[in-house]
Amino acid sequence: MNIFSTLKRYYSYYQNLKGLDRNSYFLTVNTRITDDLGAMQGHKLIPLIRDSLEYAEKNIIKEKDIKNSFLLNIFPGEHYRILSGLIKTIKPKKILDIGTHTGMSARIMLDYSDQKTEIKTIDLIKWNQFKDTHLCNEDFQIRKFSQELIDLSDKSTFKEYSALFNDVDIIFTDGPKDGKFEYDFLENLNSLKLDKKQSYLIIDDIRFLNMVKLWRNILSPKLDITSFGHFCGTGLVDISEGLQINKKIFENNIRQNLKRNVIN
Ligand SMILES: C[S@@+](CC[C@H](N)C(=O)[O-])C[C@H]1O[C@@H](n2cnc3c(N)ncnc32)[C@H](O)[C@@H]1O
Repeated sequence: MNIFSTLKRYYSYYQNLKGLDRNSYFLTVNTRITDDLGAMQGHKLIPLIRDSLEYAEKNIIKEKDIKNSFLLNIFPGEHYRILSGLIKTIKPKKILDIGTHTGMSARIMLDYSDQKTEIKTIDLIKWNQFKDTHLCNEDFQIRKFSQELIDLSDKSTFKEYSALFNDVDIIFTDGPKDGKFEYDFLENLNSLKLDKKQSYLIIDDIRFLNMVKLWRNILSPKLDITSFGHFCGTGLVDISEGLQINKKIFENNIRQNLKRNVIN
């Protein structure tokens, strides 16, 4: 990424921040213990995070001679080592990776899961279009590994692909964080009747200002594990009973986005 595209990215983030409602700023602070009901049930996740952390601390990930590969071992600071620990501890049979990009999260999923684990990675852009990819053709041939080019924030696409969520153990979402995708996707996920089994949702960048409202309005048991994950925020949610959210807030967000799009 060159200086101009970096500046462009921050400028567009700044523009998004300007459009946020004042609540997003207020929500960065908890003023009462009952402010965040999902977090109050987060103690359930402590044994999982304890075991994952023990693994992640000692685990040195093999880096590739590719740009940004060094990020795999930035710990704390990046989420790849804790992701390796979570995968080793949960022992998932099926993982969904939302946001393929250069395949760093998918690489961890491939390298730390069982050979029989099914992994689906989702993006709008094909994996081999990213020149610094951590993936290769062989990954798709020797493992139950595939990519879908779909937008799960779209209601009808989500419905069409809802079988992706059957029996899923881990969903890792690391999409655009544009103040829209994640809200729509989680609203879609909330509407789905997930199989009753131990399963987890990992959300990247929960400390982004446009993600704070989303994180605060997740009512399922959850832990903010930012100190062991990505410096922009990492959230771990127990979705064994489905994903519970404060629907009103999510619907309002969608309405606000529609209004903004009309004004723009
Ligand atoms: C931050 S990157 C993902 C990084 C990746 N998980 C890793 O560890 O290397 C975000 C990705 O989300 C993709 N994306 C953007 N909008 C999307 C959408 N609506 N559905 C799926 N993926 C999307 C982008 O193309 C980009 O590749």
